[in-house]
Amino acid sequence: MSGIAASARDGDRTETARAGAGEIAIRGVTKNYGAGKKEFRALEDIRLTIAANEFVTILGPSGCGKSTLLRIVAGLEDASEGEVAVDGATVVGPGADRGMVFQGYTLFPWLTVRENIEYGPKLRGVPILERRAVSDRYLRVTRLEAFANHLPKQLSGGMKQRVAIARALANGPKVLLMDEPFGALDAQTKLEMQEALLDVWEKEKTTVLFITHDIDEAIFLSQRIVVMGAGPGRIVREYEVSLPGERSPEVREHPAFLRLKRELTGLLKHKEEA
Ligand SMILES: Nc1ncnc2c1ncn2[C@@H]1O[C@H](COP(=O)(O)OP(=O)(O)O)[C@@H](O)[C@H]1O
Ligand SMILES: [Mg+2]
Repeated sequence: MSGIAASARDGDRTETARAGAGEIAIRGVTKNYGAGKKEFRALEDIRLTIAANEFVTILGPSGCGKSTLLRIVAGLEDASEGEVAVDGATVVGPGADRGMVFQGYTLFPWLTVRENIEYGPKLRGVPILERRAVSDRYLRVTRLEAFANHLPKQLSGGMKQRVAIARALANGPKVLLMDEPFGALDAQTKLEMQEALLDVWEKEKTTVLFITHDIDEAIFLSQRIVVMGAGPGRIVREYEVSLPGERSPEVREHPAFLRLKRELTGLLKHKEEA
């Protein structure tokens, strides 16, 4: 994408706007833990390219290496073999181009919602007025305006995860890496957060690499689902998700949704039995 097209698309962005597009290339990533007889292969030869602005979910049973793969993309862990590149730049550690949201609540309990969102920009020396504009923007995007001065302990689980998303976006990432971010929420809140995330994704146009073991969640959110299996962790299949119209709650009853759900349920069940 040319610079002109990118800046036109990002016209509404703040100073921390992303530079570049956010393509992730996972090139032959293998991960071994331990050594000698105790060596354990958690990931084997993972190859996956995620286009800029694409929403891809990795779906797989517990222990198949999903978190390991995401941590390698985040730069929190090294691959034993292979590499990850974002827009062609090899990942060598964590960076502001990749925002992370985990399942656990990772907010600073002594900071208000706004201060949590401004934490990253503040650390990078962004001046106060600019920081304020950034937090205003992401309070709005995540519908948290009324809670700007609340402390995390005054928020519900869903609201805390909204703050975590806002805080990740405040660093202007090209890529959002999400590891079962709604896994600890009750069923109703989880559905609300899925819609909120799609809303954010449409507005922000970040690339999203999302991890879950929840089939419904994967289908509802994604443009593409990559299924992983264990022993060693590897990609077993990929599905394009084509659903008609808007991703509204009703889409869960659409025949195309149910068909894919049946197929994924069968595939994962088979994997567990294997
Ligand atoms: N730091 C580590 N040291 C040794 N083994 C690990 C480590 N982290 C993860 N593993 C193992 O690697 C496998 C994949 O773990 P993980 O990536 O957390 O799976 P998932 O997120 O799909 O549940 C598991 O068998 C786990 O026990
Ligand atoms: Mg995990």
